Amino acid sequence: MKKSVLFVDDDQNMLDALRRMLRPMSQEWDQHFVRSGDEALVVLACNNVDVVMTDMRMPGMDGGQLLKIIQEARPDVVRIVLSGHADYNMVMRSVKQAHQFLTKPCSADDIRETLERAYNLRRILTNESAKNIVSRIETLPSLPDLYLRVVEEVQKEDGNLGTVARIISEDPAMTAAILKMVNSSFFGFFRPLTNPAQAVNLLGTEIIKGLILSAHLFSVFDFSRFPRYSMDVLVDHSLATGRIASAIATFEGMPPEMVDECFIAGMLHDVGKLILASRFEVEYLGILATVRNENRTVWEVEREVLATSHAELGAYLLGLWNLPGAVVDALAFHHEPGLAGCGRDFTPLTAVHAANALEHELRIINKDYAQHPPDPAYLEHMGLTSHLPQWKELCSAIYSQQNGQD
Ligand SMILES: [Fe+2]
Ligand SMILES: [Fe+2]
Repeated sequence: MKKSVLFVDDDQNMLDALRRMLRPMSQEWDQHFVRSGDEALVVLACNNVDVVMTDMRMPGMDGGQLLKIIQEARPDVVRIVLSGHADYNMVMRSVKQAHQFLTKPCSADDIRETLERAYNLRRILTNESAKNIVSRIETLPSLPDLYLRVVEEVQKEDGNLGTVARIISEDPAMTAAILKMVNSSFFGFFRPLTNPAQAVNLLGTEIIKGLILSAHLFSVFDFSRFPRYSMDVLVDHSLATGRIASAIATFEGMPPEMVDECFIAGMLHDVGKLILASRFEVEYLGILATVRNENRTVWEVEREVLATSHAELGAYLLGLWNLPGAVVDALAFHHEPGLAGCGRDFTPLTAVHAANALEHELRIINKDYAQHPPDPAYLEHMGLTSHLPQWKELCSAIYSQQNGQD
């Protein structure tokens, strides 16, 4: 079946320009062009649309209202804002409903690349009902005390952006949300960014304040319903995996941008668990009980019960949020790197797979969970088997440094 995109803009000249510009793509993509939200809903009802790109300011139903309806009625459709800077306030009000934000004018290459990336995410998550649930997600749960601290800081008259950046950098959910914003061309940055502190500084005080206080980009979740489950432990494990992954990348002589990507991919590798806890609560409680009782790995039981795992769920969401492809791949395949079908180049997946496994091996978080050491066949394929003892030494150094600080 042909891929399909729907453009919504009340400006006919804009639609004509898009139609001309994207004509070379018409072999692969069915393209629909409509001038209002109402017309868009008719097209969506009668066609198999994969991606919608909408303007924000339109008479009658505006882009934000349209996205809200699509989010509920057609969660399978990827929602992208294509808007001018004059619509800044409207975009800020829709930051949770849209998956991505593009700014006008936008080149054919940018649109094509955005569409292809959005479409290709389908290969990561094949479970349709899970896909619909993930696609509706507006926010991921943050650690309650970090959430309160960040809100308090931005509410202060003399709040400090550096402090805000530090708090956000300690929390996977807040980090993912900020990277979603900063990796959208609407906010004016044209290269992928993976450093959360840098992202906060680039967005600046006013945008950060607006995102947190008005747009409610961050949220918390009541984890007390999860007996024996600690979100602090998950966040600790995530940060440790990020640190180990970046140390491994540095040790392997990777450039600074790759080291940053390895850190962030490590820090975010288990965000799918936040999705499971907050959106698949009943199933997840059952999964955790089975894991403990039968001493198995979490992801194997998740697959058995849900036909998917936290790896694919997290990768799909962060792919929708336009995080760099290498980070998304690291999330998707962190338990089974051999399935990624990569060559032999060192990537964030290599670092995160090893870091996650070593973090579990060297610091037993839950003795009832089965261990999953680094995949020997993958390391052999990558020519990295002999590096493993040195990577373990790096981990030990990181732990003793941490304990020294404590
Ligand atoms: Fe995992
Ligand atoms: Fe993990």
